Amino acid sequence: MQGLKLDFKGLNTFVNEFELKNFENIVFNAHDMLNNKTGLGNDMLGWMDLPTSRDEKEIEKIKECAKKIQKQADVFIVVGIGGSYLGAKAVIDLFDSSFSNLESFSKRKHPQIIFAGNNMSAKYIKDLFKYIEDKDIAINVISKSGTTLEPALTFRMLKLFLEEKYGIAGAAERIYVTTDKEKGVLHDIAVKNDYPMFVVPDNVGGRYSVLTPVGLLPIAVANIDIEDLLDGAQFASYVYNEKNLTENDCYKYAAYRNILYNKGKRIELLASYEPSFRYFIEWYKQLFGESEGKDHKGIFPAGVNFTTDLHSMGQLIQEGKRNIFETVINIELDRTFLQLPEVKNSMDGLDYLAGKDIDFINKQAFNGTLKAHIDGGVPNVVINIKDLTEYNVGQLIYFFEKACAMSGYILGVNPFNQPGVESYKKNMMELLKK
Ligand code: PA5
Repeated sequence: MQGLKLDFKGLNTFVNEFELKNFENIVFNAHDMLNNKTGLGNDMLGWMDLPTSRDEKEIEKIKECAKKIQKQADVFIVVGIGGSYLGAKAVIDLFDSSFSNLESFSKRKHPQIIFAGNNMSAKYIKDLFKYIEDKDIAINVISKSGTTLEPALTFRMLKLFLEEKYGIAGAAERIYVTTDKEKGVLHDIAVKNDYPMFVVPDNVGGRYSVLTPVGLLPIAVANIDIEDLLDGAQFASYVYNEKNLTENDCYKYAAYRNILYNKGKRIELLASYEPSFRYFIEWYKQLFGESEGKDHKGIFPAGVNFTTDLHSMGQLIQEGKRNIFETVINIELDRTFLQLPEVKNSMDGLDYLAGKDIDFINKQAFNGTLKAHIDGGVPNVVINIKDLTEYNVGQLIYFFEKACAMSGYILGVNPFNQPGVESYKKNMMELLKK
């Protein structure tokens, strides 16, 4: 069932229908390049088929390991950087309580989930070890290449910690590895120590890997239904494979992004009125930033959390340089049903809102902001999501992945490589005298 509905009305005063029509042939060609695997980066299109050609045995193994982790750990540490953690963090945050890690195990019903190996801050790492010293832990170290410095150095320290605490055999029961199927340092360590292992498929890049074990194992540990997530993505993989631009909201979104870019709108803000979307926005930033930002081209993907950021970025969006467009995620049905209570003699001036749903109030902030920003010269696209279910989030993930691939092809770049990331690494390694 369709869980997403795109609303492009907020573009009406900025783009006309002929401009969209001009993109029809480009989109047709890009669609064929994706489906016939003839475009740039065509060896990295495995993400397209993940929801349809899933390996049931692997799903079972993921679910079994997730159950084992839930039994053995107070704290589950996901060690990875970039595409090797952002997808999992994004999805877990959407479904967990906002205060999950502060709640008791009996309320949370899964271990605390902590992310590490995504920085090299001595403070963060020291704080982590101080925090876990008296806790039972399990870890999932995730690195496709198996050589990325941030997760590698954190893993070395965690492995030592686990071996000192549980012995070598005991540690091997608590270290889960997700990496390449046959090569890389991490792969070799896993084989030598007989760690439970999951594979990142060769033809799926890090930022497109949330629906592989990279994302699915941590997500399953958080009791989130990974099959529903995949079912939603599968549905999206059919719907958003319609070749006709006017029938395909995903392709329309990709085309509009490029039309706006060509009109000088160089920054896209992905906005949400739910704080739980913060890491989804981070995931989107990596997906589009690493995919499109090359050959001195690319929209700068940024994000805002409303209404919070209306009190920090709102002024700039409303009246600053007109080089921004917004894509807003709107959850249509909020199942919280929380109302502002009636209070006698309250003195707070809020009686006009008494008895109203908090979500209704939040939605009026959304409607008011949408109008103000469009009137102020900021084109807006709204992605309406029926309600926040695993199935619909699966659709949303696939929607953005497909839109990113299409948008990158329209822009004329290879959306599946990231050559620029190597430059800082080369300098760093020279400085570290590797
Ligand atoms: O999308 C990508 O390919 C990157 O962001 C990687 O996910 C990130 O650099 C981590 O790489 P690896 O999984 O090899 O440690």
